[in-house]
Amino acid sequence: MVCEFRQLLRRTEPSSRHAQIVRRPLATLAVTCCAALVATIGYAVRPAAPQSGQAGGPPNYNPYPPGILPSDLDAEIARVQAEMRTVFGRYLAQAQALPPLTFSNTQGVGNPPTIAGSGYEALRILGGLLNYDQSMSPLRNVACASCHMPYAGFSGPIPSVNLTMVAYPGTFHFRAGKRTAQRYTYAPQFPQLRFNETDQAFIGGEFWDARATGYRLQSADAEQAQHPPVDTQEMGFPDTACIAWRISQAQYKSLFEQVWGPDFDINWPADTEQTCATPGGNFPTATPIALNRNDRAKANDIYDRWAQSISALEHTDDVSPFSSKFDAFLAGKASLTPDEMAGYKLFALRSVDLRCRPAALAA
Ligand code: HEC
Repeated sequence: MVCEFRQLLRRTEPSSRHAQIVRRPLATLAVTCCAALVATIGYAVRPAAPQSGQAGGPPNYNPYPPGILPSDLDAEIARVQAEMRTVFGRYLAQAQALPPLTFSNTQGVGNPPTIAGSGYEALRILGGLLNYDQSMSPLRNVACASCHMPYAGFSGPIPSVNLTMVAYPGTFHFRAGKRTAQRYTYAPQFPQLRFNETDQAFIGGEFWDARATGYRLQSADAEQAQHPPVDTQEMGFPDTACIAWRISQAQYKSLFEQVWGPDFDINWPADTEQTCATPGGNFPTATPIALNRNDRAKANDIYDRWAQSISALEHTDDVSPFSSKFDAFLAGKASLTPDEMAGYKLFALRSVDLRCRPAALAA
């Protein structure tokens, strides 16, 4: 099929608010990726601050040359943690205000039951709780939002980090990743990774290198959400089952149960919390929590639902509001300046197969 990019042009029609946004080809990604290499050479010199470590936590890891860790890092992390607690509290209040969720078969016998009336709302709120919950990390100090805050366009929220380390520290301070945090606005629209024969390029997938392909859940975005929890430089759990364990302890467990109907009846080993409170990298295997086959399957199922809940949140107006000037232009409510129009045409020319829609470009 030659018209691989047809979805992009469909967005030029006002009714296409949620039409699929085509993922940029990997070739263009190469230019923007790897911007945030934090060198781990030069172990000798430590900056004067920050050095405090976390209260009751392990000592800080600081092999970096001077000038890499900004001096306000502890204070800035504390600021963002407080903000995340506030947003988490707002989602919790919304969860409490939800009407009772009732499953009904409004479409008649022979159709599956759905949450009547408030299914989307319940899923959005659940995604918000998971996204801002700092218990979803061993030391209860990092959530997805740590590196993706709304006021920073859902990218990294600490100006001094953006000017120095660029990569953000994870649960174990200050072990940091190698890249800058991508924005996750509109990410649920990105297709699964595939090869486009016409352009001889890969499109789709998530992360700078598109390694979250989407093959398993058939959603690059949902699969993306399964990486940070066990990334030793991000949320840092030693085992994916820690997500199921911590949700089973959470205030909003019942909302998760009502939305997904998972089986939390798992025979957890006595040392589960201790294991989950230990950052990854300290165990010889990727599954240090000893679960029998059935219980592992239940934990994996919860891990899939975790991912789908977060992707659902990213799909909503909370994260992807389609409120830019470009969206207003598509809706016929704003006009582009000549420069903007030139940019739009350039983008369209570069990414659209002319054999599909030559008329659109001539306009
Ligand atoms: C410690 C910082 C950090 C945390 C915590 C973190 N991220 Fe990210 N995020 C990043 C970085 C860095 C990248 C790019 C990584 C790469 O390309 O290897 C990224 C990439 C992404 C992307 C890919 C966007 C795209 O355009 O392909 C999405 C979506 C995303 N993160 C969502 C999440 C979610 C959901 C969570 C929680 C489950 C999370 N992030 C936790 C730093 C973080």
